[in-house]
Amino acid sequence: MIGDYQKRCQQRVDACLGALFSPALEPLSRLYQAMHHSVLLGGKRVRPLLVYATCEALQGPLEQADGAACAVELIHAYSLVHDDLPAMDDDDLRRGQPTTHKAFDEATAILAGDGLQSLAFEILSGATGNPADPALRLRMLNVLARAAGPSGMVGGQAIDLAAVGKKLDQAALECMHRHKTGALIEASVVLGALASGQADEARLDALRRYAAAIGLAFQVQDDILDVESDTATLGKTQGADIARDKPTYPALLGLAQAKSYADQLHQQALEALQAFGPSADALRALARYIVERRH
Ligand code: IPE
Ligand code: IPE
Ligand code: MG
Ligand code: MG
Ligand code: MG
Repeated sequence: MIGDYQKRCQQRVDACLGALFSPALEPLSRLYQAMHHSVLLGGKRVRPLLVYATCEALQGPLEQADGAACAVELIHAYSLVHDDLPAMDDDDLRRGQPTTHKAFDEATAILAGDGLQSLAFEILSGATGNPADPALRLRMLNVLARAAGPSGMVGGQAIDLAAVGKKLDQAALECMHRHKTGALIEASVVLGALASGQADEARLDALRRYAAAIGLAFQVQDDILDVESDTATLGKTQGADIARDKPTYPALLGLAQAKSYADQLHQQALEALQAFGPSADALRALARYIVERRH
């Protein structure tokens, strides 16, 4: 089920994203090419899928969720471009391609990341592909800004860099993962709910609990795959965390316990959706996909 659903959502968001990189003006073409390389050459599109699946769970029109789907993927793509820079994780391979600073150069990769981030907010602020109500759009912009910034992803990346070579306890590791990866995943769910125009506080609360569980599970599984997958399947260098002495769940708990923790989080996610009917089946399937995925 997830395969077909994923393909449909990928096509939908890729059509919207592709349109953003066509106006490459001659003097800026290198920047646009680098942004295009960073966004459109691969990627599972998990965050846009969560936007669409949540909008669907609340029976909202997907046309109002296209802006949010693009925006979360743009922020995610920018975070990967910067995450791979020599000053951060120093990785050469991403989505089966040379990382942006390898395919272009470091300065262009920094600017491409900056450009992608700004573009995300431009897309989410406009009337096209978003709810018509400007107050609702302002609320959505605030959700994305908080998730992307120092109280979310960027804050988590700072904790990550400060933690290299240190032994974090489980609470500190969880805090890092909830910021660097969980925040944007949670925002994807909340944005999908808000985009539907049908979100009430009780359902938002349940969806936030779902998202917190899968957001953490997503990074636990990412850490597990760094240990037990291979570079060709991952499309990024296997063993990179170990090589750089990164604090991860398998490093802290061992592989078996890390896996059982991911399973527990999967169960928590499903429990949070108990009040929802079959319209939330795509969200249920996504929770399972997140802990069973092989790349
Ligand atoms: C990788 O994210 C980085 C993390 C936040 C763990 P994804 O596994 O979603 O990467 P793509 O988008 O599919 O390449
Ligand atoms: C990345 O975490 C989190 C981001 C915010 C980009 P990782 O550093 O583990 O992601 P990968 O393994 O390089 O994709
Ligand atoms: Mg990193
Ligand atoms: Mg990395
Ligand atoms: Mg990783």
